[in-house]
Amino acid sequence: MLPLPSLLSAALRRALNALPEPPPADFSATVTAAADPRFGDYQANAAMALAKIRKTNPRALAAEIVVKLKGDAELAKISAEPTIAGAGFINFTLKPEFLAERTRALLDDAKLGVPVAGKPETVVIDFSSPNIAKPMHVGHLRSTLIGDCLARVARFLGHRVITDNHLGDWGTQFGKVIYGWKKFRDPVAFEKDPLAELVRIYQEASSRAERGEKIAAEAIHARAIGDADTLNRLLASDHEAERLAADQCRAELAKLQSGDPENVGIWRECVRISCEELDRIYARLGVHFDYQLGESHFNPRLAPLVEELIVRGIARESESAICIFFPDDAKLAEKPALIRKRDGAFNYATTDLATLELRVNKWGGTKLWYVVGAPQALHFEQINAAARQMGISVPITHITFGSILGEDRKIMRTRSGENVALRDLLDEAEARAAAIIAARSPDLPEGDRAETARIIGLGAVKYAELSQHRLTDYVFAWDRMLSFQGNTAPYLQNAYVRIRSIFRKSETAFSAPERIVLAGPAELELAKKLAQFAETVPAVLEDFRPNLLANYLSELANVFHGFYEACPVLKSEGETRATRFALCELAARVLRTGLDLLGIAVPERM
Ligand code: ARG
Repeated sequence: MLPLPSLLSAALRRALNALPEPPPADFSATVTAAADPRFGDYQANAAMALAKIRKTNPRALAAEIVVKLKGDAELAKISAEPTIAGAGFINFTLKPEFLAERTRALLDDAKLGVPVAGKPETVVIDFSSPNIAKPMHVGHLRSTLIGDCLARVARFLGHRVITDNHLGDWGTQFGKVIYGWKKFRDPVAFEKDPLAELVRIYQEASSRAERGEKIAAEAIHARAIGDADTLNRLLASDHEAERLAADQCRAELAKLQSGDPENVGIWRECVRISCEELDRIYARLGVHFDYQLGESHFNPRLAPLVEELIVRGIARESESAICIFFPDDAKLAEKPALIRKRDGAFNYATTDLATLELRVNKWGGTKLWYVVGAPQALHFEQINAAARQMGISVPITHITFGSILGEDRKIMRTRSGENVALRDLLDEAEARAAAIIAARSPDLPEGDRAETARIIGLGAVKYAELSQHRLTDYVFAWDRMLSFQGNTAPYLQNAYVRIRSIFRKSETAFSAPERIVLAGPAELELAKKLAQFAETVPAVLEDFRPNLLANYLSELANVFHGFYEACPVLKSEGETRATRFALCELAARVLRTGLDLLGIAVPERM
């Protein structure tokens, strides 16, 4: 069962090939959903595109193509006679009998018409990947939710998907954490809430080191301008701890990296505590990783990798550091990738090259996706270019996204100016959803309430993310995302719940009818929308846009509500009743499956 645009496009291709002068094989004969339903269901702009190349009249060419289309017996089963509109659009209107057959076929298809990818790939998806020992905050939400959705969609399309959380568990933050651990850790507080204490000592160390850097800079300035009073004040002993902090943090990091047993022990403990919290959050979000190989995993591979790259002539020394140069790349010619620092330490790029090797050579990745913020664009361009030099030709795609803004349209922060902890955000989502449910559905059984609030609160947060174009910044607005009206998760979940309640009232289990009869416009419109699921899901991966699926589901829910108002289900009879039940069943399945691809669950009641 091919999606409708593919069927129509194949017919168009046949018509183009039947022209006296057919276009070349690579000429695109795409068919898309009609922009204006008054003209039909699907449209093609092939006549206009071809006329432009040939400098002929587009409408006349469209007429020639339509003559051929009218002679196509296959097309005649699907579409009424195509028409021409505007500057040369060719429009197709689906036949009700064809839609009825399609609807019937969808009832027997677990994939609801979505085709399996013609060429299955092994896709390695790197997403979420937070730096640990700091709490996960709202900034990590976008990568986590987009990455999870892409993984679900790719799997549904039949690709082999490997998800990997590239935890930042080996970065400079550990110098500060270990310094803080030794200087500020309060054993009682640690016993009570280890993660909170970890965050506190990190913040304490990091602000002390920051103050130290500032004092050092001011002292240099005071010395330069001969301001002895300021200099003395800055060098006074009460600033000593600050002055030394930054250096001491760096020293702790160096000790960790050279394998000092005490520091390695502290590091291990910090990683364990952080990962426990992360796992709780991922479990709550329903996000699964096949691997969580943090940066530290690659540590043993870094030194030999750099040596190999030198021997192979890919990396070389420059000002006592080791770099990979990209002389052939106009954009990167001045921007070599640093893979071993002067002091012998390796960095982010080195780890990513080692990671890349594993993903391609061991896991057999044929596509590598990185769902990481836009500020790392240069890094991934360098990784891409370095991979080519290493002889790795697998496509590497950096999938970026915008920011989440607070209601003041600035980067979202707590009232005291800190990043909003993800845990608090999820708690708030559930609490708000619980309050809404208590007010709306007081008779919902007590036992179901907490679970329903969880599903609705979490769904609202996820949908607010995934219904936006990933590149735009969006405002995180509780009231809007939890509204039961508009383009929101509760609206979609409610549409599903409403359908389920029709089935409960009917008191008979659904069984697919022999035949579907689409008699009225509301039924036809719903059948068309349901058929479009097949083309919508694959489109998500074309430019990594979960919002295409989200918006499709919202349109489907709207069309369903229109159908529900126009077409009584329980009170109808015979074939009409059977068809309407079948449409309800399919709408529920598409909503549930589509939401599941977004990582969103549905309640049975709400
Ligand atoms: N830990 C990094 C950060 O928080 C993101 C890592 C992304 N993945 C990668 N393979 N570089 O900025």
